[in-house]
Parts: sequence; C-alpha cells; structure tokens
Amino acid sequence: MEFPSSLSREPFDRQYFEASGRWLSNPELQKLIMAPEPEPQGRLLWFQSLQARDDYWIWGIGLNGHPIGCFGIKHVDVARSTGEYWGYIGEPHLWGKRIGPWMLSEAATVAHSHGLDSLYLRVWVENLRAIRLYRLVGFLDSTLDGDVLTMAAPVALLLR
Ligand SMILES: CC(C)(COP(=O)(O)OP(=O)(O)OC[C@H]1O[C@@H](n2cnc3c(N)ncnc32)[C@H](O)[C@@H]1OP(=O)(O)O)[C@@H](O)C(=O)NCCC(=O)NCCS
Repeated sequence: MEFPSSLSREPFDRQYFEASGRWLSNPELQKLIMAPEPEPQGRLLWFQSLQARDDYWIWGIGLNGHPIGCFGIKHVDVARSTGEYWGYIGEPHLWGKRIGPWMLSEAATVAHSHGLDSLYLRVWVENLRAIRLYRLVGFLDSTLDGDVLTMAAPVALLLR
C-alpha cells in the first residue's frame, strides 16, 4: 500500500467543510457521487446541524495533514445495527491510488466500535471504479433501482 501511513481520519471541521465546497463544484465528482447541485446556504445549515446529530458520522481524510476528501456513515441505526457508508476523494489526481480500501477500513473500525454489524451504500451504476473497490473489499449487490445500485457488507469483513 502506497498511502495509508500518511493518511489520517480527521474531524470534519470548518477547513474540511470549505474544502468540500470546492470539491463539490467539480461536475465530474458531482456525477460520480450523484450529488445535487451545490446550494451554499443549505450546505451551511447542514454543516451547522452536524454536531447535534447522532445518526450522521462524518470525517475528513488528511494526506500528510492536507484535506483530500471526506467520508462517513449516515442513517446510523443502532437498533438495526446498520448504517449507510459514503465517501469521496475530492482531488481527482488522487483517484485510483488505493486510498479507497483505507476509507472503508476506517469506517468499519468506527462502525464496529459502535456495535454496527453491517454497512450498506448506494452507488451510481456507471461508477465502475467505486463498484470495483466495493466488490473487492467485500460488498455484495443487494438491489438495483434505476441507475442506483445498493450494496451491503458485514462490518467484520471490512475490518483489516
Ligand atoms: C471511489 C473512490 C473512493 C475509490 O477510491 P480509490 O482510492 O480511488 O480507489 P482504489 O485505488 O482503491 O481502487 C480503484 C481500483 O483499484 C482496485 N483495487 C483497490 N485495491 C486493490 C488491491 N489491494 N488489489 C487489487 N486491486 C485493488 C479496485 O478494484 C479499482 O479498480 P480500477 O482502478 O481498475 O477501477 C475514489 O476513486 C473517489 O473518491 N472517486 C470519486 C468519487 C466517488 O466516486 N465516490 C464514490 C461514490 S459511491
């Protein structure tokens, strides 16, 4: 692995929020993550709401101390021991460099520590790199709804 020693999971603070605003202005990234058109006021309200939420976990990805992306688990449902993983590397020149498995293993570590047994995710069917990564680490297809594929994996399988 080329990167993990210099990668860190960081609090999603103001610096990450502002970086994510820049990342999300990239139409290619928007398409890959099926993001709605960025809406600054709504995004700020969302950011300000994060601290009070226990169903939404979010972290920044630092590479040598610099923000390069973010990931998290939303719709955390402790009663059902599950949640929805999501994540993206915001800097396109860092795509395809094996950072993805680290993101999933970090998310699984936190999920495991909170007693979650499984994670699911939603991915655009044409996002082939992401789908290859998810299959590689152990996600299986569960449903296909239009162009959105839902995949799921036991947390134990994602721990490294
Ligand atoms: C999707 C994303 C998180 C994947 O992370 P990544 O670090 O770029 O991906 P990886 O380098 O780990 O994996 C990509 C490729 O390597 C392969 N791979 C990863 N780890 C591997 C390993 N240990 N051995 C062999 N192959 C491996 C994957 O199968 C995949 O194949 P491909 O490049 O031929 O398509 C990242 O590319 C990204 O953020 N993209 C833009 C936003 C996005 O699509 N987010 C996901 C929305 S659901």
